[in-house]
Amino acid sequence: MNTILIIGSGGREHALARCFRRSPTVEMVYVAPGNPGMNDVAETIDIKMDDFEGLAQFAKEKKINLVFVGPEAPLSLGIVDELRALGICIFGPTKKAAQLESSKNFAKIIMNKYDIPTAKHITVNTKEEALEVLKTHKAPIVIKADGLMAGKGVTVAMDDKDAYVAIQEIYTDDQVISPVVIEEYLEGEEFSLMAFVKGERVIAMDIARDHKRAYDNDKGPNTGGMGAYSPVPQISSDQIEEAMAKVMRPIAKAMVTEGIPFEGVLYGGLMATKEGIKTIEFNVRFGDPETEVLLPRLQVPLDQIIFDLMNDKEVSLKFDERFACGVVLASVGYPKAFEKGHLILGLDLVESQVYHMGTSFQDGFRNNSGRVLCVVELSETLQGAAEKVYAQIEKIEAPHLFHRHDIGINPNKR
Ligand code: AMP
Ligand code: GLY
Repeated sequence: MNTILIIGSGGREHALARCFRRSPTVEMVYVAPGNPGMNDVAETIDIKMDDFEGLAQFAKEKKINLVFVGPEAPLSLGIVDELRALGICIFGPTKKAAQLESSKNFAKIIMNKYDIPTAKHITVNTKEEALEVLKTHKAPIVIKADGLMAGKGVTVAMDDKDAYVAIQEIYTDDQVISPVVIEEYLEGEEFSLMAFVKGERVIAMDIARDHKRAYDNDKGPNTGGMGAYSPVPQISSDQIEEAMAKVMRPIAKAMVTEGIPFEGVLYGGLMATKEGIKTIEFNVRFGDPETEVLLPRLQVPLDQIIFDLMNDKEVSLKFDERFACGVVLASVGYPKAFEKGHLILGLDLVESQVYHMGTSFQDGFRNNSGRVLCVVELSETLQGAAEKVYAQIEKIEAPHLFHRHDIGINPNKR
């Protein structure tokens, strides 16, 4: 029997905990630091994500068989390297391999070197260079600050003024900052393809669609993700195979060739354009909220998948054929400033799966971060799953939260 330690504190980690818990070979799940909404399936532990020594000590004490890391931050700080050096079994990419996500510039260089399709780009190091590029490259254009910004360092500028403002905001003062990537705007259907990877082995999961813009009809600023569904009817199996053949398997192979083999969950943020599949970004972990709609459909025990992959055994995945739709409830004001600590009423009436992305508990659950809850339903049709979610959300009384009204509704018409 396995005892699992999950690192992280959001909805993704809640979904991971619930998924591990369903496995017949898992007897206990801990989450560090977790949030109070996860106590239905896991014990939360008050150890910070960057306290590697504390985590290692806890893992030894509790005889943890597997540490699974949810978010990018500890991965890019080298949690896998450090815990592994202390003899702990941990699944995820090393610090070097995590650069695929932590440095947009690194990802671009490797994609160009190995002919992996992506938007054309220019990397700049100063404000002057950036403004020079904007003179010759007109909107729509995309501007990405390097480093981990949780999806919020990206501006998709539809006119020249927005592009100019984005550059001004990045270079607000004289501090030295990482390179900025300015890239071609890609038009098409976006989707997320996640895979379990070890070296050149890439085992694809079903795909998901995330909606990153804050407001209905994909308007407003970029967020970490406001809702998702899986599978994605508007993307064909040929397009998924193209994504595997041109992006996912080649990047895994490229990392091996570069001497930094990838092990963990690799996330391709992809666009189906008129010229074929192109890569928007790689993440080195499960997506959030994609995980909340993907893992409820997974029908093979997650611990077995990971151990079999790590031990070079055969792995085959199986997903529920129904559609899952998840809608995020976020704090009013997010992704900008928002107030914390407002009571959320009616949660006990909700019959759907509810994943806690950021709640605290004091006389009831309260909002404690930008994204707060993800409500998920499954149904034979996507429209059916979406309608069920929206009917359940009606029961939640939380004037300090907002959500999108169009997740999973008429996906082919947008
Ligand atoms: P990223 O953090 O790179 O995933 O960017 C956040 C979001 O911005 C993506 O999910 C896309 O919706 C959008 N985006 C990023 N790059 C591009 C691009 N080159 N063309 C169009 N949209 C993009
Ligand atoms: N939902 C997108 C991400 O996890 O980066």
